[in-house]
Amino acid sequence: MDIRPLAGALGAEIRGVALATLEDERAWRDIHRAFLDFSVLAFRDQALEPADLMRVGGRFGEPCSYPFVTGIEGYPYIFEVVKEEQETTNFGGSWHSDTTYLREPPLATLLYALETPAHGGDTLFASTSAAYDALSSAMRELLAGLIGVNSAALKYGGGRAKMHSQIGAMKVHDTESAEQYEAEHPVVRTHPDTGRKALYVSRSHTIHFKDMTEAESRPLIEFLQEHQTRPEFTCRVRWTPGTLTVWDNRCTQHFAVNDYHGQLRRMRRLTVGAQVPR
Ligand code: SIN
Repeated sequence: MDIRPLAGALGAEIRGVALATLEDERAWRDIHRAFLDFSVLAFRDQALEPADLMRVGGRFGEPCSYPFVTGIEGYPYIFEVVKEEQETTNFGGSWHSDTTYLREPPLATLLYALETPAHGGDTLFASTSAAYDALSSAMRELLAGLIGVNSAALKYGGGRAKMHSQIGAMKVHDTESAEQYEAEHPVVRTHPDTGRKALYVSRSHTIHFKDMTEAESRPLIEFLQEHQTRPEFTCRVRWTPGTLTVWDNRCTQHFAVNDYHGQLRRMRRLTVGAQVPR
């Protein structure tokens, strides 16, 4: 197994391992160690049927449901992230950690590439723990007691369900109300496995801080969003069919780059490990 860092703050590319048939427990321990060290792992040249994806995901945690998109036939926890040639809206095209509006968001997301554009359609990742470490001590103190109110309603975007329904190829439950998904989480969370602190706030989901108005909260949310996605905290995964990327939602954000109009991109996505952020 060959593990190579992708950038300074986070991310590694892994070759020389076939996850579908991997049973060597020592290799799985190495993968878990790498997951904690790098937060984002891009496994190249995989051949994963849905059952394999479920098994690999099970190595990281129990499967989680995604509220707004229907799973594929026989696998309710896996759904396809698709953008077809004629479409212009993509899924995940803003910085976020996955489903922070749930009380127990998933610790990891697995995204497996089936069909990818010839160029474009990369995913950017940012280390929210590197971003936390770079804050001044006074700012860290200010954030220590803050609770973020996270909502799926995307006040400024007209609702997540509505946004999803614009992505024609995806099976969206258009009857569900985004507003019902709201959860309070600490703005600074501590990774249960590494003990590292990380920012847990986003422009996409955090609507305000608890006991503060939106007007009071917005400037700090904006600052933190800009800060945590500074170039030195990021890495970029370029997809090819057969790439599986697994990321740690507890200490990263990601952004699906929408720069491939006219080309098909089709991925399978699974989230695992529901966990209360602390
Ligand atoms: C997501 O936000 O879960 C999807 C990311 C991607 O398609 O690159």
